[in-house]
Amino acid sequence: MLQVNQVTRRFGAKAAVDRISFAVDRPAFVGIIGRSGAGKSTFLRMMNRLTDASEGEILVDGRNVLALVGQEKRQWQRQCAMIFQQFNLVPRMDVCSNVLHGILNGRSLAATLFNLWSEAEITRALGILDRLGIAEQAPKRAEALSGGQQQRVAIARALMQDPKVILADEPIASLDPMNAQLVMDTLRRIHDEDGRMVIANLHTLDTARRYCDRVIGMRDGRIVFDGTPTQLTTGVARDIYGADASFNEAATSTSIEQPDRAYADAMLG
Ligand SMILES: Nc1ncnc2c1ncn2[C@@H]1O[C@H](COP(=O)(O)OP(=O)(O)OP(=O)(O)O)[C@@H](O)[C@H]1O
Ligand SMILES: [Mg+2]
Repeated sequence: MLQVNQVTRRFGAKAAVDRISFAVDRPAFVGIIGRSGAGKSTFLRMMNRLTDASEGEILVDGRNVLALVGQEKRQWQRQCAMIFQQFNLVPRMDVCSNVLHGILNGRSLAATLFNLWSEAEITRALGILDRLGIAEQAPKRAEALSGGQQQRVAIARALMQDPKVILADEPIASLDPMNAQLVMDTLRRIHDEDGRMVIANLHTLDTARRYCDRVIGMRDGRIVFDGTPTQLTTGVARDIYGADASFNEAATSTSIEQPDRAYADAMLG
């Protein structure tokens, strides 16, 4: 279903992503891990065409999405919804309108300017919010919600696009452990129930192990690990994160028992 062939992105002389290749034969839940600067975000941004690749191709069902232009490119961008660490909601706007913004691309300028949503669109947005357990938040301003609720609104907005692929760039990096779990459970449920592919950049090992079918480890723009969560041993993790003998797995954990958050932050940037 997804085939990444020798994809490279250079910024000046430096390759942020350096000839990476991997293939996924079904709509799996894929995690990409690696320390800060490894190239994780750059890869996701190439995938949904926010950034152009310098070389290579990304085939989705046999079609190279890196080569799409104009209408076809916009169509692809609708098919791969993006979720960000900082939620990227419109803070002063109500939750339901934020969700409806997921279909902005497909609408006329006038309809957008005057916030003219059809009854069917509003019903659908409310249905998605209900599915994610936050229907009662619909009339509130987005900024009035907790981080975990805001990220679920962002997931609802993504679902409004009815995407084939959900790209999540550190979706839980700004959340406390309980909300992080809630958001990851939501993503996993959408994957299981709808069969949508999820590709999530994660910076904690335990999350990758717990939620992903497949984990890709990046270091300095290259893929240094590609396997299942069980193959992701501490030794492998040490290699991915490029840490020395003092590498401590707790430093990449989101668990509540985590001993030293400051150390984790310092280590992972
Ligand atoms: N627009 C840009 N211009 C120049 N260099 C860039 C640009 N975007 C990314 N880079 C560089 O590319 C490399 C990879 O960055 P990227 O943001 O993809 O890493 P990352 O793995 O997502 O890191 P993090 O975990 O901190 O989000 C870094 O060295 C970064 O400085
Ligand atoms: Mg990043």
